[in-house]
Amino acid sequence: MPSSYRTHVSNVLVIGSGAAGLRAAIAADQAGAQVLVIGKRRRLDAHTVLASGGINAVLGTRDPEDSWQQHFADTVKEGYRLGDPRVVEILVTEAPDAIRELAEWGCPFALTEEGAIDQRFFGAHRWRRTCYAGDYTGRAVLQTLANKTADLRIPVVEDHYISALLVADGACFGAFGFDLHSGDRTTFLADAVVLCGGGHTRLWRRSSSRRDENFGEGMFLGLAAQAAVMDMELVQFHPTGMVAPPGVEGTLVTEAVRGEGGRLTNANGERFMERYDPQRMELSTRDRVALANYTEISEGRGGPNGGVFLDISHRDKSYIIKRLPRMYRQFIEHQMLDISESPMEVAPTAHYSMGGLVVKPETHGTDVAGLYAAGECTAGMHGANRLGGNSLSETVVFGRRAGSAAASFALNTEVTLRPKRVISAASDRLDELIHSGNELARPVQRALRDLMWEHAGVVRSGQSLQDGLAQLYGLRSVLGDIDVRYSDEGWADLAQTLDLRAGVTMAEATLKGALARTETRGCHIRADAPELDPDLQVNLVFRVDAEGHVGEPWAADVPPIPAALEEWVSGTDDVMLGGRLLE
Ligand code: FUM
Repeated sequence: MPSSYRTHVSNVLVIGSGAAGLRAAIAADQAGAQVLVIGKRRRLDAHTVLASGGINAVLGTRDPEDSWQQHFADTVKEGYRLGDPRVVEILVTEAPDAIRELAEWGCPFALTEEGAIDQRFFGAHRWRRTCYAGDYTGRAVLQTLANKTADLRIPVVEDHYISALLVADGACFGAFGFDLHSGDRTTFLADAVVLCGGGHTRLWRRSSSRRDENFGEGMFLGLAAQAAVMDMELVQFHPTGMVAPPGVEGTLVTEAVRGEGGRLTNANGERFMERYDPQRMELSTRDRVALANYTEISEGRGGPNGGVFLDISHRDKSYIIKRLPRMYRQFIEHQMLDISESPMEVAPTAHYSMGGLVVKPETHGTDVAGLYAAGECTAGMHGANRLGGNSLSETVVFGRRAGSAAASFALNTEVTLRPKRVISAASDRLDELIHSGNELARPVQRALRDLMWEHAGVVRSGQSLQDGLAQLYGLRSVLGDIDVRYSDEGWADLAQTLDLRAGVTMAEATLKGALARTETRGCHIRADAPELDPDLQVNLVFRVDAEGHVGEPWAADVPPIPAALEEWVSGTDDVMLGGRLLE
C-alpha cells in the first residue's frame, strides 16, 4: 500500500514527456502558466526517441518547387481522404517555422554544404521535405525540447504513472497517479490538462514500440474521462521491422534506409516492388510497401526468419555510417550483421496509431472542458495512411497549439470545481486492483498482443475480427483475477495491470472499428472487402458508457476540402516522386 499521499497544484498539467508533451509545456510556460510535466519513464527516454528518419516541412532546400499546398495534397491523398483538411492545413503551413525554431534552439539537423537544413526523400512525398539528424531525429528533437524545458525551469516528474484524469461536471481538473517505485500517490490538481500519452501499437505482437509504452493507456485516460476517440482501426504497419532475435522483433528499420536508396528483394532475389508500384518502387506509400512485404512473405518467398530483404550495401560504408548511424549499430549489436556488406531481413511491424482522441483542429481541445491532447494519442491528421515524417511535425506543431490553448483556458478560468469524492474514487480504484490473484499481467498482455496480431493484423477479415472480439471478451473476464503486489520492481504489477485494462478497451474499439469498416482503405486491408467504399469516407467515432464499456461506432463526415486545395489533391497523381530519387 502507498506510504504517502501528496497534492501538487499547477495551472497546466502535461501528461507525457515526449516531443508533444514538452512542446506543449514550453508553449504553456511562455503563455504565462505555471506548468508541470509528468512522464512514466525517465526524461529523455520517451517514445519519441524511437522516431528515426525525419520530420517534414516545406523548406525547399533541395526542391524549391515544393509548396505547402503540395504537402497538403500528398498528406490528404495518401491518407485516403480521411484526414481532417483543417488539421492538415495547419500542419503543413506551420511546420516550417516549427522546424526553424527547433534549429534555433540547437537541434542538430543535417545541413547542406551551404548550411541550409538538408532534406531527404521519404515515401510518397512528391518532393524532398524530410529534415533529419542522421537516423536519430526523434532523439535529437527530444533532447532539444528537453534543453529548452530545462532553460525555462519547467519541472518534469519522472517515473510516475497516471491512473485517471479527474473530472467533475464535464470539466477536467487534474489527474491522479503514483510513483512507480515507492507507490506514493499524488493528486495533480490543475486548471487544464494536456494529454500526450502516445498510441496503442504495442497491442500487436510485432511492434516498433517498447515494453510498457504505447499500450493505449494515454488514449484510454481520455476515453474514460468521457472524451471521444475515432478511427481506432486505422493502424499503420511499417513495412520494415527487425525479425530477429526474438527480444527485438519489430524494432524499426527506418524508412530512411529506403530514402537513401535501399532495395527490397525476396528469397528469389526479385526486386518485387516492380510488381506492386513500378513507379515509386521502395518509396511507395507505407500501406502499399507493407502489403507487398506481407504478400511476399505469406506466399512463401520470404527469408529464413520470415522476412524479406532490405539491401543498402551498394552504398559506401562511410556514407551509411554518416546517414544511417543508428541502423548500422543496431544490426551490429543485435545480429552482428554489417549492413554495408549484407542485406537486412525485415517484415511489417505495428508502428503508428492514426486514430485516437477527437480534438478540435485549432486548439486540440477535446469535448471535455480543460482537457487538451496532442501527438499520437489524437486523431484527425493522418487518415488511413500516415506519410513518414509527418508525426514528428505533428508533435511540435500541435504540441505548441495545445499548450498555449490550455494555458489560455487555465488563466481565464474563474473557478474550478475539485470535488474530494472524485479524488477518493480514483485512489479507491487503485486499492481495488491491489490483491492476490491467479493470473499475472504479462502473460495476459502477451495473449492480447498475439490476438491482435492474428485477428487485426496487416490483412483482416470480418470472420477473423469477430473471432478476435470473442477471444477478447474471454481475456477481459480474467482482469479481476490479476495478482498485483509490491515487488522488487516496485509497483510494476500495478502499472502493467492498468496498461492491460486500457489495452483491452482500446483493442475492443479497434476490433469494432475494423468490423464496421467493411472496405479496404489504406492501412486497413479487408480480404473479404477488397474495394474502397466511397460511402465509408467517414471517421468512426466511439465513446464508453458509464460502466466503461465501448459502444458501437457511429460515422462522422470528414470536413470538406476547400476548393482551392481540392485542385491540388485531385491534380496529384499516384506517381508522386520528384524524379530525383537516385541522384
Ligand atoms: O521509418 C521511419 O523512420 C519512421 C518515421 C515515421 O514514422 O515518421
